Amino acid sequence: MFRSNTCGELRLSDAGKKVTLAGWVQRARKMGGMTFVDVRDRYGITQVVFNNEVDADLCERANHLGREFVVQIEGTVSERSNKNKNIPTGEIEIIASGLNVLNTSDVPPFTIEDDTDGGDDIRMKYRYLDLRRQAVRKNLELRHKMTMEVRRYLDSKGFLEIETPMLVGSTPEGARDFVVPSRMNHGQFYALPQSPQTLKQLLMVSGMDRYFQIVKCFRDEDLRADRQPEFTQIDCEMSFVEQDDIISLFEGMAIHLFKELRGVDLPAPFIRMPWIEAMTKYGSDKPDLRFGMQFVEIDDIMKGHGFSVFDNAAYIGGICAKGAASYTRKQLDQLTEFVKRPQIGAKGMVYARVEADGTVKSSVDKFYTQETLRAMANKFNAEPGDLILILSGDDAMKTRKQLCELRLEMGNRLGLRDKNQFACLWVVDFPMFEWSDEEQRLMAMHHPFTHPKDEDIPLLDTDPAAVRADAYDMVINGVEVGGGSIRIHDSGLQAKMFEILGFTPEKAQEQFGFLMNAFKFGAPPHGGLAYGLDRWVSLFAGLDSIRDCIAFPKNNSGRDVMLDAPAPLDQKQLDELSIAIVESDKQ
Ligand code: AMO
Repeated sequence: MFRSNTCGELRLSDAGKKVTLAGWVQRARKMGGMTFVDVRDRYGITQVVFNNEVDADLCERANHLGREFVVQIEGTVSERSNKNKNIPTGEIEIIASGLNVLNTSDVPPFTIEDDTDGGDDIRMKYRYLDLRRQAVRKNLELRHKMTMEVRRYLDSKGFLEIETPMLVGSTPEGARDFVVPSRMNHGQFYALPQSPQTLKQLLMVSGMDRYFQIVKCFRDEDLRADRQPEFTQIDCEMSFVEQDDIISLFEGMAIHLFKELRGVDLPAPFIRMPWIEAMTKYGSDKPDLRFGMQFVEIDDIMKGHGFSVFDNAAYIGGICAKGAASYTRKQLDQLTEFVKRPQIGAKGMVYARVEADGTVKSSVDKFYTQETLRAMANKFNAEPGDLILILSGDDAMKTRKQLCELRLEMGNRLGLRDKNQFACLWVVDFPMFEWSDEEQRLMAMHHPFTHPKDEDIPLLDTDPAAVRADAYDMVINGVEVGGGSIRIHDSGLQAKMFEILGFTPEKAQEQFGFLMNAFKFGAPPHGGLAYGLDRWVSLFAGLDSIRDCIAFPKNNSGRDVMLDAPAPLDQKQLDELSIAIVESDKQ
């Protein structure tokens, strides 16, 4: 037997047992005539003691163990005199009677402990060592449990897990594709799927009725803490359903996951907030509802008093930070600098404090009477001790988005974004299209297969920008954890959609002919949703970045620094693929 027990399972009740453990040397230290070795495996850490007086030879060998050596240890479980309450095995130790060094190790480039001394780059380069750390390993365990629970839940609801291909055709909508050259088809390329969207719709045409897949998706887009170029979706589709059916089934799944994996009972049903309300009250289509600070618009009160910034603005709005009137000049200057950062782009910030006696002191006092300022503060329901922060601008949506950043920043500063609290909602009634300055045309806000709201279909001809979609996103703590829609299942309506999106009939046929043709053969009404698995796991684990729940993630430049990918290809391989590299100054 290689090992009788793991390094995480022995307790006081095992005292006296002869055991064999195997694992890595976390630390070895010599104290007087004793050598203490912490042995680690996936399950935990157990202290092993070598006693010079009992077996000098064995102890001498233990003194030569280095960090991360792989060892097999025989010994007897014994109660520890100096107990460690911080670890589950902390009440026992193994009195060693045998030591087998299974492998040596170079000195690792960083300490493999919870509080490692390794920076981000070095840990990513040696990710296989980083994964030995309990903190990272736990995230992968949680990820595993989550996929198991997802499969259990969806299986119980009659879903079939079906794999779809990874080598598909390139689609022009959405993010950029990662492409793969085809050796056997000269000059032609596959694309890796951005999602199995059209394939799962075809499965509905096939009558599969309820499909799911835990599936890798690939998008060549700029990376952020919650975005990786390859990530995993829990992708689902259902036939003969309406929006309510999908929302309630997947809300049920969220409730199930929270209960099973976090022991949290979520209040149901979740709020359903129309997109326009989310944008107006929070300046975001993924509002963080763990805290209030809803926007208050004050154009009516603040305009026409000679303060030209406000007088010329299309939008004047603010938030009220409870109890923050004590903010110093320096803190307020920091906030002003924050909103003026190029990523946010506000021109400035106005503030108003409500003093203990109810008077309102603002940075624009000279333009307003105390009466007007009080009327303004009343609109916020501000009380003595509160701080009002105001932004204005000539583009209402842009200004709301800036105010959203300020709201989130204040939420952070005031400790209102507790990682152990969860605020879930559905954002519904998204606009069907959004204008793209870059493309100079309407683009689908979700994707071109989304069904418009029935009552808005007539607007497709007259005012497409006003059309709302049967689309919904699930948002938790300000993170979009999933999204979906009811789909178009009529080839005529689908063709119209492509026309509005600027496709010629030929181009639409070339790109999506397979789908529109399939719709001619009795496509059922259908709809679905995809959850972002990485985002769910990082939410449950309280992580700042989804990278920490991915075994081998990419860095912010999309590189795998461990595999050193992407990398140039050999000339021979390029020749086989008939690919020539053109040097450009883009590098
Ligand atoms: P969507 O593009 O909204 O919808 O993606 C669904 C969910 O996937 C997650 N997600 C990501 N996670 C990590 N890194 C990324 N780069 C990334 N991009 C998206 C998000 C998001 O909510 N086919 C549709 C779904 C449908 O309509 O059924 C789709 O892909 O959590």
